[in-house]
Amino acid sequence: MSTTTITFEDRPVACQTGESVLDALLREHIDIPHGCKQGACQSCMMKSLDGAPPPEAQNGLKDVLRHQNHFLACLCYPQRDMRVGRHTSQQFNRATVIGKQPLNSETLLLTLHCHGVMDFHAGQFVHLKRADGLSRSYSIANSRRHAHRLSFHIRRLPGGRFSEWAHGELNVGDDIEVSDPQGLCYYLPDDKERNMLLIGTGSGLAPLAGIIEEALHQGHSSEIHLYHGSREVDGLYWVDEMRELAQRHAHFHYTPCISRGNAPQGIAQGRANDVALAAIPQLKDWRLYLCGHPDMVNQSKRQAFMQGARLQDIHSDAFHVASSTQE
Ligand SMILES: Cc1cc2nc3c(=O)[nH]c(=O)nc-3n(C[C@H](O)[C@H](O)[C@H](O)COP(=O)(O)OP(=O)(O)OC[C@H]3O[C@@H](n4cnc5c(N)ncnc54)[C@H](O)[C@@H]3O)c2cc1C
Ligand code: FES
Repeated sequence: MSTTTITFEDRPVACQTGESVLDALLREHIDIPHGCKQGACQSCMMKSLDGAPPPEAQNGLKDVLRHQNHFLACLCYPQRDMRVGRHTSQQFNRATVIGKQPLNSETLLLTLHCHGVMDFHAGQFVHLKRADGLSRSYSIANSRRHAHRLSFHIRRLPGGRFSEWAHGELNVGDDIEVSDPQGLCYYLPDDKERNMLLIGTGSGLAPLAGIIEEALHQGHSSEIHLYHGSREVDGLYWVDEMRELAQRHAHFHYTPCISRGNAPQGIAQGRANDVALAAIPQLKDWRLYLCGHPDMVNQSKRQAFMQGARLQDIHSDAFHVASSTQE
């Protein structure tokens, strides 16, 4: 099998054909931060020190980072030997847990007070890092109005290292580190007259809730349609809050959906993306936000494009969970 050589901090590491830079470095027990291993969370960002990295390893990065030869190690399958370094400009800020309450049996509302001002766009995500360095990506669930307060919806995955810890061991008063905001799925108040369709599954409601709060605060004047889906009724949350919001704002529409069992009155039967895209067949000039399960996000993107949405108007965050092989 042919290999290339990755040189990291003067240490050469063989990278085999079909192996990512991230996997090669982890195999050698080099501690590189990572999360999804799918190019979604950007926590494995590194820098090429000897020229441009493969273009596909820069997917989703801001132009400034591309030009500085940053790349995502999990997407980097080198065709040549490379010298690489850590992405050192990632800033972490100290925050203190000020609230912890259940949203449903599997989802926690975690509220943090950030000791510095967080300059984020509603819908972006951050990396939360605990004292031993383990970090995971979570979407900000509130609007920009709260410069020091961030809230998150954290779904517990059985056996999940971070989410189980956040549910069971993290307490009000504890400190945690929060990265700079990341990602391109956010609300910009540049076009308040465009209709918006937001589809989320599970804790994918978090960024959408932040976007809706921001849009209403900014005076977004066109239609805003939210479809939130889960398998069963128990997996939904904030149903009353969203209904109440819809009563207060005539142009905000909310449809909770369940995909299994019989839907009770007021809840739509079917997958949120199927229900939404059937209800709104013509998406020309709409702006879309898709968050949550990666399969839902990918299917909805394709379908929305077929129904007239432009790709640049489809914003998404797929909540990729790293495979069980990750450390
Ligand atoms: C851009 C982005 C935004 C996100 N936003 C959110 C959000 O707002 N809310 C949210 O809840 N999540 C969000 N996520 C997902 C989140 O980052 C984490 O991936 C998720 O919480 C799981 O992390 P964990 O450490 O609990 O699980 P991990 O420890 O990473 O485990 C993942 C899964 O693998 C299984 N597993 C782990 N180790 C083993 C093993 N040895 N053998 C077998 N199985 C194993 C676990 O049981 C679990 O099901 C987001 C992800 C991305 C990429
Ligand atoms: S983007 Fe590489 S681990 Fe998430």
